[in-house]
Amino acid sequence: MSIKFNENNNVFILSTKNTSYIMGLLKGKHLLHLYYGKKLSSFPSNVESMIPSRLSASGSASGIEGGFSSDLLPIEYPTYGSTDLRTPAFHAVYEDGSATTNLEYISHTIYDGKKELSGLPSTYSESGDDVTSLEIKLGDKRTRLEVMLIYSVYEKFDAIVRSVNFINDGYGTINIKSALSQCAYMFDKDFDIVHLSGGYGTERLINKTKVSHGIFTVDSKRMSSSHHHSPFIALARPNVSETEGEVYGFSLIYSGDFIAGAEMDTYDNIRINMGINPFGFNWKLEPGDTFQIPELVSVYSENGFGHMSRCYHKLYRKRLCRGKFRDTHRPILLNSWEACYYDFNEEKIINLAKKAKQAGIEMLVLDDGWFGKRDDDTTSLGDWYVNRKKIPSGLGGLADRINSIGLKFGIWMEPEMISPQSELYKEHPDWCIAERGRESSLYRNQLILDLSRTEVQDFIINSVSSVLSLGNISYLKWDMNRNVSEKGSQNLPVDRQQELSHRYYLGLYRVLDVISKQFPNVLFEGCAAGGGRYDPGMLYYFPQYWTSDNSDAISRLYIQYGTSLVMPSSTMVTHVSSSPNKQNGRITPMDTRANVAMTGQLGYELNLLELSDDEILQIRTQIDAYKKYRDTVCFGDMYRLKSPFESDCSSVSFVKDDKSSVFVMICNSFVMKHLSPMLNIKLQGLDPKGVYVSDDGTMAYTGEFLMNRGLYFADRRDYKSEILYFEKQ
Ligand code: DGJ
Repeated sequence: MSIKFNENNNVFILSTKNTSYIMGLLKGKHLLHLYYGKKLSSFPSNVESMIPSRLSASGSASGIEGGFSSDLLPIEYPTYGSTDLRTPAFHAVYEDGSATTNLEYISHTIYDGKKELSGLPSTYSESGDDVTSLEIKLGDKRTRLEVMLIYSVYEKFDAIVRSVNFINDGYGTINIKSALSQCAYMFDKDFDIVHLSGGYGTERLINKTKVSHGIFTVDSKRMSSSHHHSPFIALARPNVSETEGEVYGFSLIYSGDFIAGAEMDTYDNIRINMGINPFGFNWKLEPGDTFQIPELVSVYSENGFGHMSRCYHKLYRKRLCRGKFRDTHRPILLNSWEACYYDFNEEKIINLAKKAKQAGIEMLVLDDGWFGKRDDDTTSLGDWYVNRKKIPSGLGGLADRINSIGLKFGIWMEPEMISPQSELYKEHPDWCIAERGRESSLYRNQLILDLSRTEVQDFIINSVSSVLSLGNISYLKWDMNRNVSEKGSQNLPVDRQQELSHRYYLGLYRVLDVISKQFPNVLFEGCAAGGGRYDPGMLYYFPQYWTSDNSDAISRLYIQYGTSLVMPSSTMVTHVSSSPNKQNGRITPMDTRANVAMTGQLGYELNLLELSDDEILQIRTQIDAYKKYRDTVCFGDMYRLKSPFESDCSSVSFVKDDKSSVFVMICNSFVMKHLSPMLNIKLQGLDPKGVYVSDDGTMAYTGEFLMNRGLYFADRRDYKSEILYFEKQ
């Protein structure tokens, strides 16, 4: 059992393979966070001995219980109103206008396995997993609010997940202003905060800043997790490397507005707060109602960022992603977007499919432009019927033609959106997010459908299932291309308008759940103007995600490296595009474009009709090679060997679970600063005694040698790259 409660001292001990998480009840009432980190074999016998001895500093209140001031205490789930005046995890205003919540222990239960979270994506357990859960019920006597803290321990996966459920057991309405998923403490100040931030075409770049007194936060108010920040932060000791040093990772399974931050208090303790963004949020909880908030996944590593990422990768790949594609290889696809944009007709798509077949590609995906009157981005979102002028055979007919060439067929949709120039808008102008009496701003000429409305959710479910039922459609790319503005619902009452962002996600999650269950054989790929909503919440429904609209291989070195801090390679969609690149004009060799794309779910996104026979042959060779490597790349353990953020090169490797093979990719990222003719790269994670032989049979080294001496990478010219693959003999 990985969760224990010691009745003698009221201490809860949660243990994973390498970590301990300890909480205790102070005087049997207040739940304190006592420790999180490297696994401990013994613990002090009472809670009082694990909290600061100077319990009543001058200027601090006499406190909640027998002289303990909560401003000095690591309260496990801190609330606003009493003597803890740091940022609370919970803040509510009650019907009488009061705003104090004082949570005391009521009861707890420990059980095997893990329950689903109602309406929200979450990690799950399968039989045979070492997963144990703990629910601790706390309550506020005066208002009869009950708060259920829910923890599940993934012993083997080395991760602890938590969420909170609120129950209004009282007589009055509770206005929840802030309800965060996580509050964690660091008991000293020596940490950097690492976060993934960027923008359109520059998603999830690694940023690091020293934690200091005050509050540091990243967040999103865009009604999606966004391109700009990710629902992830890590607290890392200064100079932590990929292999050494302490790191705490916190990753939120949510796709809407979030906040992630660290607050250092007067006494140099750090409190980490993460969850739904309290900005613009108010949730009315009526008597008898419950409110479930998103799950947060914590990982502690004493072996640097590498171990942290591998824990996230394994857990998210195996116990967050679902469905038949979770453990299978995906078809290698050609996407029509960068090949044609809106400029295509059926014959051009058929010609592309024929070339794709010649190149060894397995699926043709028809991107934007096949429906309504859509010849550019000004019209037709919501009118999900095929444009017969472009595709006379219809989608079913086109699918048949493509299938007869020997390829699967996939399609693009942007189901959450509506164009003001559309039949749908004429019929249902009130279905979009807008504020009464105020003009709505457009982004890319479009508005957002109000998914808090059940009839809108049903419309989307029906439109998507009608499209998917038109023929033999094997794949759907689900796009979403704008941020929110003038955020109002014409359906919600005035006093529930601030619930819109979260209700939107409850609606979207319902839609995705229904559709993905209705079409278990369709591969769903998420997309939001590139990787704008590539978050763990989405992985519950989509086993893969378009990483960025920036398809330039060199930019992708940074984007993919940053993304890999949390996201597994099996979910990362990486395409070979044309050179010069359509986004930034960069010229890169074909093999480099492919080598970089081979570190995720390989696909193609270029006009094959413009390529020479020689280039088509190159693609065929790349695909054959990838098929040999992809077991290792997509289902192996990732080791980052060289960071493009810290050098002029990026190198990543993947080692199969049983250490029987290793794939390495090395690529020069920018103009060589000095004329060093070679670079030595040391591998990681191999069997030291094993003999690894390269796939062309020319090299054989022991794992020990590869990890300690390393390999020379000789071509240091701009944008040159190499891939290596070894199998253990
Ligand atoms: C944005 C996506 O990221 C692109 O890949 C493409 O699908 C376009 N939308 C289509 O409008």
